[in-house]
Amino acid sequence: MIYLDNAATSFPKPPEVLEEMFETYSRMGVSPGRGSHDLAVRCEHYLQKVREEICDFFGGKSPDRVVFTSNSTDGLNTLILGLAEPGRHVVSTRLEHNSVLRPLYHLRDRGVIEFDLVGFNPEGFIDPRDIAERIRPSTGFVVLNHVSNVLGTIQPVAAVGRICRERGVPLVLDVSQSAGVVPIDMEAMKVDAVAFTGHKSLLGPTGIGGLVLREGLEVRPVRFGGSGGDSSNTRQPMDYPFRLEPGTANVLGIIGLSAAMRYVKREGIDTLHDREMALARALRDGLASLKGVKMYCAENLENHTGVITCNVDGLAPGDFAAILDGDFDIATRSGLHCAPLVHEDIGTSPRGAVRFSFGPFNKADDVSAVLFAVGEIARR
Ligand SMILES: Cc1ncc(COP(=O)(O)O)c(C=O)c1O
Repeated sequence: MIYLDNAATSFPKPPEVLEEMFETYSRMGVSPGRGSHDLAVRCEHYLQKVREEICDFFGGKSPDRVVFTSNSTDGLNTLILGLAEPGRHVVSTRLEHNSVLRPLYHLRDRGVIEFDLVGFNPEGFIDPRDIAERIRPSTGFVVLNHVSNVLGTIQPVAAVGRICRERGVPLVLDVSQSAGVVPIDMEAMKVDAVAFTGHKSLLGPTGIGGLVLREGLEVRPVRFGGSGGDSSNTRQPMDYPFRLEPGTANVLGIIGLSAAMRYVKREGIDTLHDREMALARALRDGLASLKGVKMYCAENLENHTGVITCNVDGLAPGDFAAILDGDFDIATRSGLHCAPLVHEDIGTSPRGAVRFSFGPFNKADDVSAVLFAVGEIARR
């Protein structure tokens, strides 16, 4: 099977990630606990070490402000619900995934906030000036997708960060598609919070993700429960990270995430990105020479990740993906990719398109196989 659905979940994982999960969890798979027995304390120290690695990876300043979550969706809900104050306004974009859009719609339906969504140009990029124009005195925060999961376009975050910092509005960044293939430095980019997921280009397992928060950003807890200490308190402790981390941590996932981030660092983010882009360019060039194939925002692959989205004339994207899978053993993702507004704006609603997304273990032969398959399908 040729796996080209890495933007959904990267597969396979580096073998050393799986080995380290088995080995470390065999020794230390217990409830982390600050004032508890030796093994629990060791596990707590291990988590603290991983918080330091994550903080360093994203250019954060304080490891205590690294919060483990289940994935980006969980982290974005925690941030959006925890930052939203009644009567405030939010600025976001039409590039967002439903993990941002749905919490925003939910809050607006309940009369808590209003929001504006800025559009993107025909190449798939937002204009930071549009964000500046939408910021009002009542704007509580801006939330932005770093890399579109449909188009693979890398957004001009540093310019948005400068605008937000000048206007005193926190910037929340969804780095689901960028972490691991695009360098992220929260300080340099003037980002106040990132939400990441472990199972995409960070090459870790599913079920683990996190937040990195800037000192001074106050996020109200939106879930409540045990925190391993101060148990007689009827309120959630307000110290970070425990304020936003009720319940027992996903220790197995955290071990995998740590091993995966070390793998990414050792291989090099730029090297991994260059490798993906070489395959994406070859696919784009090959598809461009086939009659009846239409690609979206792939003309210029500068500021892009290894994602190519396309359709074949006269063929529903669901059928296109099913033929690729059934007849050619090529795994892709079709439909709206949980980003319905992107498809509205590129003219592919309601059926969407087919997305090919590369990972570190794809080879040039995979591109040849896809070009052969799409050529056959378009000819038929
Ligand atoms: C841009 C973007 N944001 C958020 C998510 C949600 O990630 P998860 O399902 O890991 O929570 C995804 C996953 O497809 C994504 O591509």
